[in-house]
Amino acid sequence: MPERTGRERPRSGEPAASRRSAEARLEEARGLAEAIGIRIVARRSYRLRSVRPATLLGKGQVEEIAELVREQDAGLLVVDAALTPVQQKSLEEEAGAKVIDRTGLILEIFGERAMTSEGRLQVELAHLDYQAGRLVRSWTHLERQRGGFGFLGGPGETQIEADRRLIRERMARIRRELEQVKRTRTLHRGRRQRAPWPVVALVGYTNAGKSTLFNRLTGEAVFAEDLLFATLDPTMREIKIPGFDKAILSDTVGFVSDLPTELVAAFRATLEEVASADLLVHVRDMAHPDREAQRGDVEDILVSLGLGEEGPPRLEAWNKLDLLGPDERQALLNEAGRREDVVPISALTGWGLQDLQTRIGETLRKDDQVVEIRIRAMDGGKIAWLHARGEVLDQQVGDDGAIHMSVRLSSDNWARFQALEPA
Ligand code: GTP
Repeated sequence: MPERTGRERPRSGEPAASRRSAEARLEEARGLAEAIGIRIVARRSYRLRSVRPATLLGKGQVEEIAELVREQDAGLLVVDAALTPVQQKSLEEEAGAKVIDRTGLILEIFGERAMTSEGRLQVELAHLDYQAGRLVRSWTHLERQRGGFGFLGGPGETQIEADRRLIRERMARIRRELEQVKRTRTLHRGRRQRAPWPVVALVGYTNAGKSTLFNRLTGEAVFAEDLLFATLDPTMREIKIPGFDKAILSDTVGFVSDLPTELVAAFRATLEEVASADLLVHVRDMAHPDREAQRGDVEDILVSLGLGEEGPPRLEAWNKLDLLGPDERQALLNEAGRREDVVPISALTGWGLQDLQTRIGETLRKDDQVVEIRIRAMDGGKIAWLHARGEVLDQQVGDDGAIHMSVRLSSDNWARFQALEPA
C-alpha cells in the first residue's frame, strides 16, 4: 500500500495524509479493510518519489507487490490512495490481483453501514458513478451482493457498452428514487421534530470505539420499536439518561480523513440523524498516536456538514483510557477534570460510563427553563405529557378550577408543548 503525500494526491482537498505517519496510515487502512471482512496477509508502505502515471507506484514497487501476491496467493490488493480507472486496470494486470483503492474501500464500508434509504441510495449512486469510469469490473459490493447485474466474466467491448447503459439507467432510476425519499424524509423530520425525546448522536473517527460504546450504553435495551424511525434505522436505540423519561442514542459511520469529494453526499446521507440530534458525543481514541489529527478531521467534517459552532452542543468522550500508562492517563484525567465538555471513559471495560450518562443528562438540561403553565382540568393528556417530559415542581388546582403547574422543561420541549394541539 503506498504512502501518499500531499503533492502526489491525484484528487480531493487538503492533504490530511501529511499530518500522519506512514505506519498510522497503514494501520488505519488495515482497520478499514478488516471492517468489511478482508483478511490481510501482507502490508507494505511505499514512498512515491515520482509518480508513474500508468500504475501510480514505481515499476520495482509493482514487481515486489506482484511477487507478494504470488507468494501469498492473495486475491485482492488494497491501495490506500485514489487510483484513476487506468491505474487500477494496469495495476490489476501487473500485480495479478483485483485492486480496490481508498475510494472503493470507503464505498464498501458506507455500503455496509448505510441504514437509511437515502443513505443506501446515495452510496449506490456513488458506487455506480465510480464504476462507470472503470471498464473492467472491480471487486465491489455490487459484484458480491448484486451478482445478477450482468457484469461478470471478462466483458468484451459490447458487453462493456451494455454495462455502461445499464449503469446509466440504474443511476437515473436512483436519482428519481432519491427525490422521492427526500420528500418522504421531510415529512418524517417534521414528525420527528415533535418526538419528545432527546436524540444523542455518537460521532468519531473510524475505530474510536463508537459501536463498543453504543452497545454498552444501550445494553440489552429493547429495540425502540414503538418509535417511528426504528424500522428505518437499526442504529438508533433507547438509552437511559438520568432525569429523562426516554432518550435515543444514534450510532454513525466512522469518519475518515481524505474523504473523496465524490463520496461526500453519500457520507452526508449516512449522517442524516446527526444534524437533527440534540447532543453530539465525539468519541475519541486517546490511545492513538494521531489522536489530535483525528480530532481535527472530525471537527473539519462536522463544520463542512454545517455542524460547527451553531450545531448541537458537544461532549468529548475520551475513550480507551485503559490502554494508557499511568502517567499519561493521570495527565489526561487532570485535563478532563478541568473541562466541562470532556468525560474520560473506557467503552471496553465500562469505566466512566455512568459519569458519561450523567454528563449527557446535564448537558441536555443546560438550557432548561422553569415555566408556569395553566391547564384546564379536562386536559389530562397535556398534564401527563408534562409529567413525562419535564420535571413537575409544583401542581395545584386554582380557584378557577384549572390546574396550575410549575415545570422544568428543555427549550425544545417547551416549544413542542406550545405546538401541541389546543384541546
Ligand atoms: P468504526 O465502525 O470504524 O467507525 O469504528 P468504531 O468507532 O465503531 O469502533 P469500534 O467500537 O468498532 O472499536 C474499534 C476497536 O477498538 C475494537 O477492537 C474495540 O474492541 C476497541 N475498543 C473500543 N473501545 C475500547 C476501549 O475503551 N479500550 C480498548 N482497549 N479497546 C477499545
